[in-house]
Amino acid sequence: MLREAHGPSEEQLGFVRRLLTSESYLLSEHLHRLDPEARHRRFGHDVSDDFITRYASHAGDFGNVTFGYFVEGELRAVAELRPDNLMHGAAAEVAFSVEKPFVNRGIATQLMGRVIRTARNRGLRHLILVCMPDNAKMQAIARHYGAELKIEDGSVIADIVPKDPDYQSWVGELLDERMTYLHSALDLQKRVRGSAEL
Ligand SMILES: CC(C)(COP(=O)(O)OP(=O)(O)OC[C@H]1O[C@@H](n2cnc3c(N)ncnc32)[C@H](O)[C@@H]1OP(=O)(O)O)[C@@H](O)C(=O)NCCC(=O)NCCS
Repeated sequence: MLREAHGPSEEQLGFVRRLLTSESYLLSEHLHRLDPEARHRRFGHDVSDDFITRYASHAGDFGNVTFGYFVEGELRAVAELRPDNLMHGAAAEVAFSVEKPFVNRGIATQLMGRVIRTARNRGLRHLILVCMPDNAKMQAIARHYGAELKIEDGSVIADIVPKDPDYQSWVGELLDERMTYLHSALDLQKRVRGSAEL
């Protein structure tokens, strides 16, 4: 189900929530919808459709957390948190993708805030983001959250050091998590209704 996006109208606000393991097919559909340049920037090199399908099937692997931005039940932007096993659970890598009609609306910035809160609550000491040197937008978002940037092997590496968790970060995640399953069901309903209308 690869429905085209036409960009949200003002009243069509999106909603950020965690992606369930059973929804990894939505990640696959979203990544397939990225245009070639965004796909290249997301993975740091060109990747095939098959690669994306295989990659997305691992979304629910142990320790991975994916946040999605949903508009009318469709996943239009994603932030993926993947533990860095070499750092023994102390660090995770984060990656972003936003479909073209939805860029420059602060969505990746919003998703980054959610990822940082999750990193805090899991006691992560470093959140690492790798992007291409000319990816000024991604670097602006990382700087916005206090990242230190350095160049390594032709890539820009941003290191965000999350604060310790506090009452607000715990309760915030708990309250959002309570609504995840309800919103997942509502999003499914919207997608089913949307495809019936096509
Ligand atoms: C990079 C990407 C994630 C940004 O998503 P987005 O939702 O458009 O980003 P936002 O609207 O939240 O924020 C854009 C930021 O870039 C800044 N910006 C916009 N255009 C810019 C430019 N030409 N130069 C520098 N900064 C720019 C904005 O001011 C904003 O920064 P701020 O939050 O400090 O104000 C999106 O374009 C994308 O998916 N690109 C392809 C995949 C990718 O590059 N992933 C990153 C590697 S994992």
